[in-house]
Amino acid sequence: MNTTSGRKKITVVGAGNVGASTAQLIAKEGLADVVLYDIAEGIPQGKALDIAEACPLWGSAVSVKGTNSYSDTKDSDIVVITAGFPRKPDMSRDDLLHANAGVVKAASGAAATASPNAVIIVVTNPMDAMAQLAWKTTGFSCRRVMGMGGILDAARFRAFLSWELNVSPEDIEAMLLGGHGDQMVPLPRFTTVKGIPITELLKKARIDALVQRTRSGGAEIVGLLKSGSAYYAPAAATCQMVKSILLDEKRLLPCAAYLNGEYGAKGLYVGVPVILGKEGVEKVVELKLTKEEKAMFKESCTAVKRLVRKLDI
Ligand code: 2OP
Repeated sequence: MNTTSGRKKITVVGAGNVGASTAQLIAKEGLADVVLYDIAEGIPQGKALDIAEACPLWGSAVSVKGTNSYSDTKDSDIVVITAGFPRKPDMSRDDLLHANAGVVKAASGAAATASPNAVIIVVTNPMDAMAQLAWKTTGFSCRRVMGMGGILDAARFRAFLSWELNVSPEDIEAMLLGGHGDQMVPLPRFTTVKGIPITELLKKARIDALVQRTRSGGAEIVGLLKSGSAYYAPAAATCQMVKSILLDEKRLLPCAAYLNGEYGAKGLYVGVPVILGKEGVEKVVELKLTKEEKAMFKESCTAVKRLVRKLDI
């Protein structure tokens, strides 16, 4: 709790496109006071001031502060880690492993020291491995460290389905499992339009094509932008997690969470449906999977494990 304002406090580490957009959404929704941290001098201060000056227009009373010092992040309720390098058109998320491991280790360590009771949301890629690294570095309970990926991938799947079916994306629910990488496992059986499974509404070939577009959704945007990766949807997905935790909404959302035997995986961060509330990951929800879905999930876990092993943690 932020003692000066009485409002909750959220730190966003990394004032790049994803970090600044996340800070903007949190401020616009008036969810909490926001501290935007970055090592680059002037950037977090400038972006935070710009966001703060938009608050009167949004009717938001929260404070937004930019800083280069972790002391300003003290006693945050939630820390969102977005710092790191984005991928280039010829790179996969996994190619960022070594470049971003150092950044995430330093950021999670310093942020956890300043805010020992915070919930940490890792956004930096390769996200599942970075969540595992942040958990190890902070020594926090696994309930309080998680990663953002599945909500973004599900939102992409929902958007593609809404264009295909000409129905509001609000009425589409999508579920995904696995790492936030090329082996992610969108689940058509658990993806519905107001309760109607899409397997009853679309031919298999169309579903397969939309699943494939979802799997390469991040790369599609990197290819168009040429430099940098997506940020509007990643920020919106992160903000949904922040809101569910802060307001104890207990939303059922796909996030990277630590598995201790669930889905047959042990000691690994990977995307699964979870209940997100004030304690962080309050429950991992287990779906009954077919043999084929189980095999795809296992393959995705193997890809994440391969990365984690390279981190030597
Ligand atoms: C994406 O999928 C950057 O991983 C992020 O766009």
